[in-house]
Amino acid sequence: MHILLTGGAGFIGSNFVHLLLKLRPTYRITNLDVLTYSGNLENLRGLEKDPRYTFVKGDITDEKTVMPLIESCDAIVHMAAESHVDRSILDSRPFVMTNVIGTQTLLDAARRAQSKNGGGAWMKNNRFVYVSTDEVYGSLPLENPELKFKETTPLETNSPYSASKAGGDLLARAYHHTFHMDVVTTRCSNNFGPFQFPEKVIPLFVTNLIEGKQVPLYGDGKNVRDWIHVDDHCEGVLTALEKGKAGEVYNFGGNNERSNLELTHEILRLMGKGHDSIKPVADRPGHDRRYAIDCTKALRELNWKPTRSAWPQALADTINWYKNNEAWWRSVKSGAYRDYYTKQYGGR
Ligand code: NAD
Ligand code: DAU
Repeated sequence: MHILLTGGAGFIGSNFVHLLLKLRPTYRITNLDVLTYSGNLENLRGLEKDPRYTFVKGDITDEKTVMPLIESCDAIVHMAAESHVDRSILDSRPFVMTNVIGTQTLLDAARRAQSKNGGGAWMKNNRFVYVSTDEVYGSLPLENPELKFKETTPLETNSPYSASKAGGDLLARAYHHTFHMDVVTTRCSNNFGPFQFPEKVIPLFVTNLIEGKQVPLYGDGKNVRDWIHVDDHCEGVLTALEKGKAGEVYNFGGNNERSNLELTHEILRLMGKGHDSIKPVADRPGHDRRYAIDCTKALRELNWKPTRSAWPQALADTINWYKNNEAWWRSVKSGAYRDYYTKQYGGR
């Protein structure tokens, strides 16, 4: 099996490459990534000489780049995206370009592509996995803890990021419905683990604390997220590729709900820091209150379950990864990152 992976130099993509080459030693993977601020080839260091792995620098919105790559592969796993909600509030345009137009470009190229060795239409025999997000479902109230997102929950997006991801999600659905393309969609909750860009809350807070800085907690800190280890998500994407049913959506979550305040206290405890390290800051505009995932369908139909997400161990291991990889995040936390951070927090 030869997989075309988009966005493989990012956080989840690079973890997917490492996991796939370990779990499926006979597979090949081509990584198409334009290397935005969050794409980093350091995440893939050591793979340059692996004959199973190829890197192509290119943009998913460019049809001339994507068509020959699709025609030489057996499946597409589409992860490339603008991924950070706060950035989408500052400027939504790159989100629409990559997450909507980029997805449409890939789907349309896959629809028109021919299989290698004269095997007819590519989409007749090959699968397209769209990596979506639980944010497409919108927000749950704190008052009803029994409510969770199911695959049948209507899409009700609140941020420019989630709206653009839902655009790609609905296009993927439409290409299955209209053209009978073999599309499978995954919707996962908040990931944590190695190589996560330190704009996302866990690596931001952990690296700030290592640097002796405070951690900016939004609003009242009561917003809830369901945390899943990135390897559990990547295994979910792999099982969806191998065992999912065409046209279906699969939710993945960590069964690991925490408010941001609980998350922050846990990080402070594991890092031996006090509550004076918390800096309350203005809330994110339109901040979704709670995400909670019902992933019984993935359990039932894919035999998938999260096995690496349980806290405190998984969180402690992640903190240790950032402690042991200072050179990685210190180089990431410079340049373009600083410009963004200055815009976001006015230089605080
Ligand atoms: P990331 O920002 O770390 O990585 C995104 C990657 O996509 C980068 O390597 C970037 O260079 C690449 N990219 C961006 N625009 C591109 C373009 N036009 N052409 C080619 N490559 C491009 O993001 P992530 O956190 O690893 O998320 C990966 C995917 O998983 C996204 O689709 C995201 O919506 C989804 N997702 C993320 C989470 C999470 O918690 N991080 C949860 C559920 C779903
Ligand atoms: O749920 C899946 C989504 O999770 C993915 O689709 C997105 O790509 C990913 O970025 C993530 O979105 P969130 O907005 O939930 O993640 P973030 O790490 O930005 O924020 C997590 C929570 O922490 C959120 O409630 C906002 C809060 N937060 C975040 C930052 C960056 C803070 O309190 N302070 C901060 O500085």
